[in-house]
Amino acid sequence: MPILIRPETMERITTPAQAERFIDETIADVRTQVGDRNVLLALSGGVDSSVVAALFIKAIGKQLVCVHVNHGLLRKGEPEQVIRVFQDEMDANLIYVNATDRFLDKLAGVSDPETKRKIIGSTFIDVFAEEARKLSDVTFLAQGTIWPDILESEHGIKAHHNAGGLPEDLKFELVEPVRILFKDEVRVVGKALGLPDNMVYRQPFPGPGLGVRCLGAITRDRLEAVRESDAILREEFANAGLAGKVWQYFTIVPDFKSVGIKDGKRVDEWPVILRAVNTRDAMTATVENVPFELLSRITDRITHEVKGVNRVLYDLTPKPTGTIEWE
Ligand code: XMP
Repeated sequence: MPILIRPETMERITTPAQAERFIDETIADVRTQVGDRNVLLALSGGVDSSVVAALFIKAIGKQLVCVHVNHGLLRKGEPEQVIRVFQDEMDANLIYVNATDRFLDKLAGVSDPETKRKIIGSTFIDVFAEEARKLSDVTFLAQGTIWPDILESEHGIKAHHNAGGLPEDLKFELVEPVRILFKDEVRVVGKALGLPDNMVYRQPFPGPGLGVRCLGAITRDRLEAVRESDAILREEFANAGLAGKVWQYFTIVPDFKSVGIKDGKRVDEWPVILRAVNTRDAMTATVENVPFELLSRITDRITHEVKGVNRVLYDLTPKPTGTIEWE
């Protein structure tokens, strides 16, 4: 696709009709550019890569090869949803790689946050590159780059062109069909493409996933406690009508225990920390005023349903002085 720059006069996509027009034009562009060649996409299940996948599936069907890498740090139900939506419902050419053991084995015993991030990032590239090498005849790499990514990239528009940090032997042409869209426009397009609401209106989720919320060295049991408590928090927020209202909410499990009582016995178990914040740009954030009854209900469920947890805490710290994630 030619390098596109968002024209200053371009109207913001806010309606289904505008989204349909964008979809039709993009499909025509993709067909012209790609012809009968094949396109590869790393499909995380986030809104940007999901919209790109849905656009390409409409445009070129099985010429798109989606690779979904499960690094074991996804939220409860996410890999299953990617398979259901793209493979079962859209009949996509989807390669699902469950690399959980590989990631968790590499992360075992590693407690430094930056080192954890680097291991997750480099292992992701390794796994994706291995899958890419198995495929012959792929010309293009699709990416869900959006306009703010271009604006924020350090050296501006030209320097943005690194194909996801892939090794030298993998040379693809980049296709970035949503690169001139803002996030809210990507969501409108995603909705028009028929993607489910919980994919289209998904709260932000860091690339290293639950790995940044399982503090210190990640263990499988504590990671499960993060995943299960996060699922309970999301379910309770949805039931209370807070799901689309609060900007970001999640749980954290630190790597220490405290004494508690369960079934009349003293038990050393982890605390779960709840975080729920509102922000415009993630540079500063305020804490959501969650009703006490809801906090009590979530506490009750987490302490009874999540293995190894005996306390629940609510983080009252705005950003600054706290960051949104703990790490
Ligand atoms: P902090 O913790 O710096 O987070 O206040 C600000 C926002 O960024 C998200 N975040 C990430 N998003 N990749 C992402 O796409 C990442 O590696 C990453 N790390 C943090 C965080 O969830 C919050 O919304």
